[in-house]
Amino acid sequence: MSKRIVSVLGARPQFVKAAVVSAALQDFGHEEVMVHTGQHYDYNMSEVFFQALNIPKPRYSLGIGGGLHGEMTGRQLMAIEQCLLTEKPDLVLVYGDTNSTLAGALAAVKLHIPVAHVEAGLRSFNMRMPEEVNRILTDRISRWLFTPSVIASGHLRAEGIASECVIEVGDVMHDAVLRFSRGDVELPVALPQRYGLVTIHRAENTDDEAHLEAIVDGLCRVAGSLPLIMPIHPRTRQRLATLGWLERLTRAVQVLEPVGYLEMLALQKHADVVITDSGGIQKEAFFLQVPCITLREETEWVETVDLGWNRLVPGLSGPSIEAAVLGAGRPETAQAQPYGDGRASARIAAALG
Ligand code: UD1
Repeated sequence: MSKRIVSVLGARPQFVKAAVVSAALQDFGHEEVMVHTGQHYDYNMSEVFFQALNIPKPRYSLGIGGGLHGEMTGRQLMAIEQCLLTEKPDLVLVYGDTNSTLAGALAAVKLHIPVAHVEAGLRSFNMRMPEEVNRILTDRISRWLFTPSVIASGHLRAEGIASECVIEVGDVMHDAVLRFSRGDVELPVALPQRYGLVTIHRAENTDDEAHLEAIVDGLCRVAGSLPLIMPIHPRTRQRLATLGWLERLTRAVQVLEPVGYLEMLALQKHADVVITDSGGIQKEAFFLQVPCITLREETEWVETVDLGWNRLVPGLSGPSIEAAVLGAGRPETAQAQPYGDGRASARIAAALG
């Protein structure tokens, strides 16, 4: 049976997931109303995704981004509640682990509207990450928990979530990579023969001066032997500028404005190595079969590490980053597919019917 669904989104990775899930909801005959919280608001962090990925225009654009986490989440909660009172949906759909995810889920559950969580069950076991708090709380109050992998489903079972609520569908980002990584796209930079692609934005790296300094040092060292291209997140640019390190970095590394999804996939596909602290990019590199170095202590996407495509760099330092990046290589084992078969979105649409 088709449902009336309000989906809440607000940050860059959610636009990518919504591109494939919204299309599947529509194919199934569900009615979807989109609420954009405004957590990401720059043209190249938001609008460009809606245009390039053909995502339906949000009915509500709340314009609530920036500021402290509690304030952002609280203001979003208040505004989403009003949208839900007007729209009276059968269910609310949220994605991933951002402040917008938690605000959407909490607004719904307080109005007794059931919540569907796409990308449920991920855990880093690091409660200092805002994303970990957002995930755990959202999973706890969701009615449908759509997981990307066996391991994610296992985490939910271990936490005592009723098994009929846990639906293992595979990863919607796999659907997105399969759908959008073909075809040519014009890039804002001439690609060197060999290069590493860098993205950094996590609060645990940008807001920790020692981590950020180690990253700048590591990238400058690597750039001595391997050219680096880095589309820069606004958070990272702001922090580097404040600390006076932006110039040093841009002398060594080709720093770009944030790029769109199609451009990002192309930049990853042609890279020799990806260096990141993003969750989504660790998986995109895996799907595109490019070795990844993750500048974090732990990852939620443990399968990519276990299969040899991803390496963590614990105890970040300039030399440890340099050694990891220059030593990165492809594993010899055939590639397994721990994140499903690229048809997660259709399964989500069907499960909600
Ligand atoms: C958020 C999510 C993270 C996700 C990431 C993807 C949370 C807690 N974190 O982190 O899970 O992986 O998005 O990018 O929700 N800013 C701009 N322009 C923009 C967007 C942000 O200037 O378009 C600025 C904000 O004002 C803020 C900073 O960048 O100062 C960080 O943005 P924020 O939304 O807090 O978190 P992200 O680091 O993007």
